[in-house]
Amino acid sequence: MRFSYSVALAVLSSLPSVLGHGYVQEVTLGSSKYTGWLPYSDPYYNPVPQRIIRKVPGNGPVEDLSLIDVQCNGYTAGGQAGSAPAPVYGTVAAGATVSLNWTTWPICELPLISHTIHRPLITYMAKAPSDITKWSPGNAAAWFKVHQDGYSGGLWASDRLLSNKGIYSFTIPKSLKAGQYLIRHEIIALHNAGQYPGAQVYPACIQVEVTGSGTSTGPSSGLVSFPGAYTSSTPGIVFNLYTLLTR
Ligand SMILES: *[C@@H]1O[C@H](CO)[C@@H](O)[C@H](O)[C@H]1NC(C)=O
Repeated sequence: MRFSYSVALAVLSSLPSVLGHGYVQEVTLGSSKYTGWLPYSDPYYNPVPQRIIRKVPGNGPVEDLSLIDVQCNGYTAGGQAGSAPAPVYGTVAAGATVSLNWTTWPICELPLISHTIHRPLITYMAKAPSDITKWSPGNAAAWFKVHQDGYSGGLWASDRLLSNKGIYSFTIPKSLKAGQYLIRHEIIALHNAGQYPGAQVYPACIQVEVTGSGTSTGPSSGLVSFPGAYTSSTPGIVFNLYTLLTR
């Protein structure tokens, strides 16, 4: 019997929970470990725990990429554009490794579809012009990319994430000037990205103070905004994975 991709796609799109959702549950800055914002327990504590990750409403994605939600995953600050700042921040040296621990993403086990789940992981930073516990970039072009991992060596970044027990790592650029920054990390799930909306973005924003003797505050041009960086015409946001993988 011939295998039908349209059947597979219908099955896939009817099983979003099997494909999994997630959020960052732990952040390691150099050698210091911080618990992430835990959307299913933190809100129920009194007092609510103070985290260095801005609040996310749950483990779901953002699909309307024109919304401010695509910046840090929801929660606008008192009606002003941008996610609500968190009350505390972590400290990390320029040049140090940051490791982010994602909650488990179940693997798709459908026959004849690769075991891989298809997700790039991308990380941006933005220099806070003022107190990071009060500042949000809003719609400003404030973000520069510091790391990305997509499809290489026959594997997706998300395959590497799974084989690395949910841990993704990147390096704070050594040249970065000391000061407060917002790190915006994301997973983009592409299993349904053949049209727009379809790509699912899972952003997380982490507040840090960078230390060191660097002099760069990031590139002077080519900064992007969230929302803004991703539209229906951005390469990779509309993306037919299944055609690509069967060629
Ligand atoms: C990721 O975080 C969870 C929850 O704190 C923890 O149980 C798990 O051991 C961490 N994973 C790794 C590889 O450190």
